[in-house]
Amino acid sequence: MLDQKVAELLNDQINKELYSAYLYLDIANYYIDEGLNGYGNWYNIQAQEEQDHAMLMLKYLQNNGHSVTLGAIEAPGCDFKNFKEPIEKAYEHERYVTSLINNIYDAAYAAKDFRTMQFLDWFVKEQGEEEQNTEDQIKRFELFGSDPKGLYALDNELAGRTYAAPSLTL
Ligand code: FEO
Repeated sequence: MLDQKVAELLNDQINKELYSAYLYLDIANYYIDEGLNGYGNWYNIQAQEEQDHAMLMLKYLQNNGHSVTLGAIEAPGCDFKNFKEPIEKAYEHERYVTSLINNIYDAAYAAKDFRTMQFLDWFVKEQGEEEQNTEDQIKRFELFGSDPKGLYALDNELAGRTYAAPSLTL
């Protein structure tokens, strides 16, 4: 059995990951409505990855004898005013998710729950990559996004992203 507090935090994190998927679907919808299908593609795939994160946590709890309680998923309710806002929102959100993962890690460490620490190692690395990806998107948008040809090139580049299943399996 896992530490009870750690299990509760992981259960809450399932909701947060599904909310992340919802947020990225909202961002993808915005870009597709605006004709930036490459950005839409990138965020649709990001939403798929977030669902994978939720499923990994759900399976981990089940594999360790904990039942899972699912709560309501909050509406993202985004109202973006320009093309840069969603990327900034994504970066800010990933930094928030990193703080949540770190918080669970902290609880696992305090409880000497080494199994969960090992499970979370993958998420710690993943968060580093996700923060870096979204931060890079901001920088690239600032460099090239104000020019229509530059924006077209950025959008084409993001259209090339394809979905890959998570490297962590349970
Ligand atoms: Fe699963 Fe991007 O946090």
